[in-house]
Amino acid sequence: MLSWDDETASAPAARPVAPSAAVTGTEPAADAASVAKRVHADDKRIINGKTDVNQLVPFKYKWAWDKYLAGCANHWMPQEVNMQRDIELWKNPNGLTDDERRLVKRNLGFFVTADSLAANNIVLGTYRHITAPECRQYLLRQAFEEAIHTHAYQYIVESLGLDEAEIFNAYNEVKSIRDKDEFLIPFINTLTDPAFTTGTVENDQKLLKSLIVFACLMEGLFFYVGFTQILALGRQNKMMGAAEQYQYILRDESMHCNFGIDLINTIKMENPLLWTPAFREEIKALFLEAVDLEYAYAEDTMPRGVLGLNATMFKGYLRFIANRRAQQIGLDALFAQEENPFPWMSEMIDLKKERNFFETRVTEYQTGGALNWE
Ligand SMILES: [Fe+2]
Ligand SMILES: [Fe+2]
Repeated sequence: MLSWDDETASAPAARPVAPSAAVTGTEPAADAASVAKRVHADDKRIINGKTDVNQLVPFKYKWAWDKYLAGCANHWMPQEVNMQRDIELWKNPNGLTDDERRLVKRNLGFFVTADSLAANNIVLGTYRHITAPECRQYLLRQAFEEAIHTHAYQYIVESLGLDEAEIFNAYNEVKSIRDKDEFLIPFINTLTDPAFTTGTVENDQKLLKSLIVFACLMEGLFFYVGFTQILALGRQNKMMGAAEQYQYILRDESMHCNFGIDLINTIKMENPLLWTPAFREEIKALFLEAVDLEYAYAEDTMPRGVLGLNATMFKGYLRFIANRRAQQIGLDALFAQEENPFPWMSEMIDLKKERNFFETRVTEYQTGGALNWE
């Protein structure tokens, strides 16, 4: 659910009209000009804000701060997950079928570089265009989580003794993966271009479009065939260490996606001129293209049925997810009512049904109270 917790904004602190001179009698009082520069919550804006980005408080976007706290409470590290059973299974010639091995390698082939693209997009792009410090604080946490995800994929590749060059070059060499990345890269390049600045309707729309592509289509759609595949392996007691890691990653990514959607909706609310009919049509076309690309990836990773999954099932699943993402940012559903063929994926996302689903984790690393495994 979207959170619109803007309580602070609706009750801004009273503005001092004069310096608090002679309060202590010893401290030099701030002069009126300095006091006038103090940050007031209701002056903050997500983009094109003029308030000091170094002052986290007073809060306006409490939902962003809350997600930062939740992200920290969910902290985990890849090497805490025991990979021994995965290693034994992978090395056993009869442990997995050829189709299962292809699926794992193609899957990692996308993810090993995807999260570096995500991290670069945040650090070199998005971050500098966002003027709300609460949102920047979340983006800093998110950037570190992307580093942890890249670490997790590298750790799986290393544990299984896979050909690193093959896996890390898949985004150049495997068409279904390259096509997904080539779709994303122009939107990342927009934000990372040192000459790009916001402040005009045209450029603010470019920023908004990139944020939508990143949150709704990359983190919110392009990751889901891959997550479903590895978690399906785990449900059949195969590659349970990898599946455990993907489960933690899925939890992080679903929060990234929700943060991105809150960010997008708040920018829309603050800048209603950006959300024109032509712009919405452009976004819909991008959604349709992304669904096609992800479906092609599903077909490539599963040329035959495997693990009780087949590419056709993903056609419905991708439409189901695309509808949900469209509606989350205020667009109409793109496809006729689609059923979710993988209802168990929802349980994986909220992690409430089963405690530590795959039970391979060797260390409890809960740093806060937000992890509820009951
Ligand atoms: Fe990630
Ligand atoms: Fe992410």
